[in-house]
Amino acid sequence: MPKLETQIAIVGAGPSGLMLSHLLHLHGIHSVVVEDRAREYCETRIRAGVLEQGSVDLLRRSGVADRLEKEAMFHRGIEIGFNRRRHRIPMYDLTQGKCVTVYGQHEVVKDLIARRIADGGDIYFDSSAVSIHSIEGPHPLVRFEHAGRSYELAAEYIAGCDGFHGVCRPSIPPGILQCFERIYPFGWLGMLAEAAPSSDELIYMHHDRGFALFSMRSPQLTRLYLQCSPEEDISLWSDDRIWDELFLRFECDDGWRPIRGPILQKGITGMRSFVVEPMQYGRLFLAGDSAHIVPPTGAKGMNLAMADVAVLADAFHSYYCSGYSDALDRYSAICLRRVWKAQRFSWWMTSLLHRFDDQNEFDHRRQLAELDYVTSSQAAATSLAENYVGLPMEQ
Ligand code: FAD
Ligand code: PHB
Repeated sequence: MPKLETQIAIVGAGPSGLMLSHLLHLHGIHSVVVEDRAREYCETRIRAGVLEQGSVDLLRRSGVADRLEKEAMFHRGIEIGFNRRRHRIPMYDLTQGKCVTVYGQHEVVKDLIARRIADGGDIYFDSSAVSIHSIEGPHPLVRFEHAGRSYELAAEYIAGCDGFHGVCRPSIPPGILQCFERIYPFGWLGMLAEAAPSSDELIYMHHDRGFALFSMRSPQLTRLYLQCSPEEDISLWSDDRIWDELFLRFECDDGWRPIRGPILQKGITGMRSFVVEPMQYGRLFLAGDSAHIVPPTGAKGMNLAMADVAVLADAFHSYYCSGYSDALDRYSAICLRRVWKAQRFSWWMTSLLHRFDDQNEFDHRRQLAELDYVTSSQAAATSLAENYVGLPMEQ
């Protein structure tokens, strides 16, 4: 059995695993990434699209933002619509010059993979039977199969960056983790349309028929979402039905509507809020979706993953420079403060904008009053803006 050695074994080549590996490399710390999917799959999986200011700053500071500078779209505001009118939240003005950047998660992944490979990084794509062992002791291990051979990877620490359905979190013995969870009674039907975005900014639309979101990926690609049932049968959604529903939900007095085009991809995502505490056990550290999930309404998922690994990379750096593990010991507590604030914001945006099946008319009127307040009070809009562009990384 081939035996490999590294300082940090990273399970998962999503944004958290790749960014961690890249940041560790900049600190002179060796890592090996083990991923169960093919490189092409990781590079084409359409997911999140909005980067907070702090995530973009991190990509820039660490030298992986060249393509982003050329191809990303920098947004200074968002629109919130209800009662047939859209209202702009001028985020840039309300946050002393911060904006959000529209750049697909798969583009970030592509850039990070290219950079890791150019820097001589080891990524084992297409691995199977990935398992982690001995996380309580000083010599943790990752075992996996790759190209027909079984590997054993000896490490000093393991980073569980393997998403919500990965193997790392379930490898922690029962009774250690506390899980906090809320499942929402709806999902999102997401689609990518070959059509020029007909608005320069994202539009979050509250409608009696359910929430709708207008976003984009490039000057030729519009990304759209419709609130639907979590058990929705996608085969019932023809392109015509999708566009009819989008036009109904976005209909406003000014006549704006998204530009119609062929739908290139569509899928249904369930919505949940989930956190485990603590985010570490023995020599295993969880980062990103393996430790927490947010409903996508606040656009926080990928950004939380980036913030976690920024803290973790600094903590490893401090450990390898000083020999003291206090920064590593504080990892979970530092991340969770920020994670809970992002959870609160994502839950709030979700509750504000979606239609709930069991909603009575009181709740509906209260929701409309809150939308009116957020879009007319500078104090309320500032609170939304500062959370949307992202709280400081260390908060
Ligand atoms: P992931 O991106 O999930 O990466 C984990 C990696 O680990 C994957 O490459 C996976 O293949 C790999 N892996 C899993 N199990 C194993 C194993 N056993 N061994 C080895 N490797 C393994 N957020 C938004 O803000 N907006 C959105 O529109 C949005 N849409 C989403 C749609 C879907 C279907 C999902 C699942 C998430 C979405 N998110 C969205 C959330 C956002 O994409 C995540 O928060 C982000 O991907 C987290 O990055 P990560 O690296 O922690 O996890
Ligand atoms: C996206 O473009 O995919 C997107 C944008 C904003 C969100 C969620 C998803 O809140």
